[in-house]
Amino acid sequence: TVSALDATEILDSRGRPTLNVTVRLADGTSAEAGVPSGASTGSREAVELRDRDPDRYGGAGVRKAAGNVRGELADLLRSRAWDTLADADRAMDDADGTGGKSRLGANAIIGCSLALARALAFSAGQEPHTWLAPAGVAPRLPVPHFNVLNGGVHAPNPLDFQEFMIAPLGAPTLPEAVRAGAEVYAALRTRLRGAGHATGLGDEGGFAPGVTQPEDALRLIVAAIDDAGYPPGRDGVAIALDPAASEFRRPDGTYQVAGETLSSDDMIARYERIVTDFPVWSIEDGLGEYDDAGWQRLTTALGHRVQLVGDDNFVTNPSLIARAVRDGVANAALIKVNQIGTVTETLQAMAVCREAGYAAMVSHRSGETPDPFIADLAVATGCGQIKSGAPARGERVAKYNRLLAIAAARPRLPYGLAGDHG
Ligand code: PGA
Ligand code: ZN
Repeated sequence: TVSALDATEILDSRGRPTLNVTVRLADGTSAEAGVPSGASTGSREAVELRDRDPDRYGGAGVRKAAGNVRGELADLLRSRAWDTLADADRAMDDADGTGGKSRLGANAIIGCSLALARALAFSAGQEPHTWLAPAGVAPRLPVPHFNVLNGGVHAPNPLDFQEFMIAPLGAPTLPEAVRAGAEVYAALRTRLRGAGHATGLGDEGGFAPGVTQPEDALRLIVAAIDDAGYPPGRDGVAIALDPAASEFRRPDGTYQVAGETLSSDDMIARYERIVTDFPVWSIEDGLGEYDDAGWQRLTTALGHRVQLVGDDNFVTNPSLIARAVRDGVANAALIKVNQIGTVTETLQAMAVCREAGYAAMVSHRSGETPDPFIADLAVATGCGQIKSGAPARGERVAKYNRLLAIAAARPRLPYGLAGDHG
């Protein structure tokens, strides 16, 4: 039973307002949660409620969302004893009534859902990485995907692809994977300095050098992996891309990359060359969120060679993922709790992935707080993959440090990709 619910307007890692939600149960257990916020959002995501008062934070304040937590959502959650988190999450979604959580705010509802999940776990005497585990699912420590080079809307450089991640697939343990990530990151900084590049950081903590061509960024990263003494590739440190192509797709359906105008098929041919020339094992949002026909051709062309992850097109929505499975679109889904707006629906999206044989990668947002909930989520669901930005910046390393703490507390947990997605 919930006895108290509160929300405060705090700052996220970009200095924009977000919510911190605290919950107290009748048995005295309390917990809190910080709410993440994206920049390259999918258009079908659950909707953040912002104040739109131009006199505060350029309109981005979240006082209304905080008020909805303290008012309507607190009244609702205190109104009865909840058998399960799923019941409470469904009641919040029903009370919102819009389907997209736009009335009460997806930021308000996910904050309540995260805090309540944590409180219910504590109340049961468990940590969330144990309590959240679905029946029949074996928890495991995920492969961290460190975003070491930033572009797109996350950095002010000319690079159109948004994320260049390193994935220590060959590491024997999580601590060795974290070490590999940090060592390659340091080697990349040295290499960028040596080449006269700026080493300022993008929103997710990766470097943001003045590189234009994605292939030039890939060459720098492969060299850094090598400098750090790891074999580039699946036996050592592989690369994962998130071009976030919706951000550079024009209304006429073309893609603008480094000043060139490319069709969907040009993009697919470019990715074929990239996965041939570089140790890229995973590509997220290689095409735009509404380019379904392109996505089908991309999946046919490359789905047997690399992981193809849907983010903007799936928005952690169980129905959209199920439709993609039927349509032969992608073979993996990105999982972001605030895209769908409750922990329960997030777990449902991951269940759809497991049933379809799709991989799932748990993800932070470009705007984050130090809340490490997603580390627990990734472990509990055994999905085998997480992305939380660079091995630098407090709000990014909070998640990796939480994984290290879980690894230390549960030394028998396996590490690595789930199933046969290696
Ligand atoms: P976002 O970016 O949080 O700005 O949406 C992350 C991603 O595209 O995966
Ligand atoms: Zn993405």
